[in-house]
Amino acid sequence: MTTTSSGAAVRLTALRRVHRDVTALDGVDLAFPAGSFTAVMGPSGSGKSTLLQCAAGLDRPTSGSVAIGGTALDGLSERRLTLLRRERVGFVFQQFNLVPSLTAAQNVALPLRLAGRRPSRAEIGEALRRVGLADRARHRPGRLSGGQQQRVAIARALITRPAVLFGDEPTGALDTATGRDVLRMLREVTDRDGQTVVMVTHDPVAASYADRVVFLVDGRLAGELAAPTAERVAAHMTGLEAVAC
Ligand SMILES: Nc1ncnc2c1ncn2[C@@H]1O[C@H](COP(=O)(O)OP(=O)(O)OP(=O)(O)O)[C@@H](O)[C@H]1O
Ligand SMILES: [Mg+2]
Repeated sequence: MTTTSSGAAVRLTALRRVHRDVTALDGVDLAFPAGSFTAVMGPSGSGKSTLLQCAAGLDRPTSGSVAIGGTALDGLSERRLTLLRRERVGFVFQQFNLVPSLTAAQNVALPLRLAGRRPSRAEIGEALRRVGLADRARHRPGRLSGGQQQRVAIARALITRPAVLFGDEPTGALDTATGRDVLRMLREVTDRDGQTVVMVTHDPVAASYADRVVFLVDGRLAGELAAPTAERVAAHMTGLEAVAC
């Protein structure tokens, strides 16, 4: 295992990912500082999901490297990679991906059980309380609203106290008000707990919750904005789409 000292929670170096004849990522150099909240934006097909999957160790790059907490992923065996992911990475999807037959509490407990731990009821209760769902522990996903399901998914992703939480359009399936609740929660993850958040979104308002927005076009970085406002993000996106046409 190669370890390098750096203040980045995740560092991508010359990252390329080719799917058959499609170049999804074409040489991306990017660092996500520890304790920061970054939004990733870009037109459909620009490589955002591919970037997130590679950065989270869910997909292997064709070339280039990914380091999480200073540990380079290239060269790790599947087993070491799985362990590292389990310890350091949380992932939230647009469609929640909860197990429908399990209660909210059981869904949240799942990552710890997979790691061979038997979590206490207090630990699960605290995780659900943190996302405002202490009173829904025994509900199955089918009896929860979309926003509540996403909050369960966030509690599940955070139960292992990962250094980095990735979200691929985590508010994409939610209405505006519910989406804002989820975004406030992600903001808290960095502000209160010092964890790192990386979120793909198409929504300039969602992106404005981040400390920084990075833009992708055709698998390459196409600028970034610090301290973004929804208006500046929207203007940047309009500019990118005009160039892409
Ligand atoms: N498994 C795959 N096999 C073949 N091509 C793929 C695969 N996954 C992604 N691609 C291609 O790679 C490119 C980037 O895809 P990706 O899903 O990363 O885009 P995206 O920016 O997340 O798009 P969207 O906003 O629509 O979710 C696209 O051209 C896509 O068709
Ligand atoms: Mg995508």
